[in-house]
Amino acid sequence: MNLQEKIDLNNLPKHVAVIMDGNGRWAKKKGGLRIFGHQNAITAVRETVEAAAELGIGYLTLYAFSTENWSRPKLEVNALMQLLVTTIRKETATLTKNNIRLKAIGDMDSLPDACRKELMEAITLTESNTRMTLVLALSYSGRWDITQAIKAIGQDLEAGKLTVTDIREETVSNYLSTRNMPDPELLIRTSGEQRISNFLLWQLAYSELYITDLLWPDFRKQHLYEALLSFQRRERRFGKISEQLTK
Ligand code: IPE
Ligand code: IPE
Ligand code: MG
Repeated sequence: MNLQEKIDLNNLPKHVAVIMDGNGRWAKKKGGLRIFGHQNAITAVRETVEAAAELGIGYLTLYAFSTENWSRPKLEVNALMQLLVTTIRKETATLTKNNIRLKAIGDMDSLPDACRKELMEAITLTESNTRMTLVLALSYSGRWDITQAIKAIGQDLEAGKLTVTDIREETVSNYLSTRNMPDPELLIRTSGEQRISNFLLWQLAYSELYITDLLWPDFRKQHLYEALLSFQRRERRFGKISEQLTK
């Protein structure tokens, strides 16, 4: 039995989030520049998207560029933005063919115009696709998300559209950039780092964490299957005790 066949399709996470890390180290190991690692990350993205869609995962969120990544050398930032434009341009047809809807979360206003334009076009072109939603986290950070949510809540309070007693956890969720999406049940991080790096802070409250030493450009379908199998072996207790859980 191969790995894929071992996956219980009735116990798939509805939403998988990935911190795609280790491109720079991958390039260094090969004696190349960091951007060489980013270029070689595209195959891993393609394989992950394809495998997730084939299995029937509803949402796949990929952390592609964090708020903090703006502090990298200008050359690397520019190269990453350029890579984003060319990749979106190249891959939109495949997304459509595979019935995948593209979305983005993050501070879109901070992206270079060409980048934002390419992204918005792809989002519009794919908006009626229904098989899976691929979410790119771009210029994203969890604290940015929570801050923008608090601002929007404040504005609605001031405008009288919301009262303080209306505010519940669900309200907060609805003001985050991930509104209408289930929280990720599984978070995968490559490159062995054991941290969240300001990703979906609110939404990861009860996610299962899966960390692999593999560097992102080496990630393939079978590695997603391994992560899903690990997820399916976990007991998700949500604060209860084992005996209270009904299978
Ligand atoms: C992840 O790989 C990609 C981005 C953050 C854009 P890195 O570029 O962080 O690679 P390492 O962690 O330095 O190896
Ligand atoms: C996290 O990776 C962000 C993305 C994968 C886009 P980083 O490489 O930026 O994280 P740190 O700085 O090692 O925590
Ligand atoms: Mg990194």
